[in-house]
Amino acid sequence: MKTKLIAPSLLSADFGNLEKEIEMLNRSQADWIHIDVMDGRFVPNISFGFPVMKIVKNHAKKFVDVHLMIVEPEKYVEKFIDFGADLVSVHYETCTHLHRTIDLIQNSGAKAGVVLNPATPVLMLEDIISEVDLVLLMSVNPGFGGQQFIENTYKKIAETRDLILSNNSTALIEVDGGVNLENAAKLFESGADVLVAGNSVFSSENPERTIELLKI
Ligand code: DX5
Ligand code: ZN
Repeated sequence: MKTKLIAPSLLSADFGNLEKEIEMLNRSQADWIHIDVMDGRFVPNISFGFPVMKIVKNHAKKFVDVHLMIVEPEKYVEKFIDFGADLVSVHYETCTHLHRTIDLIQNSGAKAGVVLNPATPVLMLEDIISEVDLVLLMSVNPGFGGQQFIENTYKKIAETRDLILSNNSTALIEVDGGVNLENAAKLFESGADVLVAGNSVFSSENPERTIELLKI
């Protein structure tokens, strides 16, 4: 996988025109499509589930990046993979048996990511970093689009980079929350490989152009 990837989050898309929004992403320079699944229990919001995944599967030509903000994600990962997920990321905070859940995702044919909330230290990943394909660092508290970027994320990117290098891991680093045209370049320079962008893409006048600019 190449680095400096942009993953627009569908959470901020116009759901009345979902197919059109996905077609726009297909035409754009977006690399991945980021799908935020929320259950109203792990996070204080409910987003969407399999009916939306079905539309994504039928129309998306990009790599499908599923971010599960749900309790007991192990119950649903196989179904998300059946519905077209190329990568499934689960929160460290939701997995009692994280190693087993990562195994389950990979054995079901997808890449596996682990997500850290802003207050969860990177050192918690020491014994799983060699197994995962991606580390997703939350740069806002998960649950909503359009929140302000937490600056401490830069420190966590550096720590994740060090952890990856010292374990000869090939994991990518993804950053999610409050990414915009002001901080994207600095995030890539700091070591992020993939940037999720919701509000900054979909509330802009020209989302395709914004996706292009986020890569510069
Ligand atoms: C937040 C979600 C994010 C969100 C990002 O819980 O995980 O993916 O959609 O939205 P922005 O880019 O608007 O902060
Ligand atoms: Zn997300």
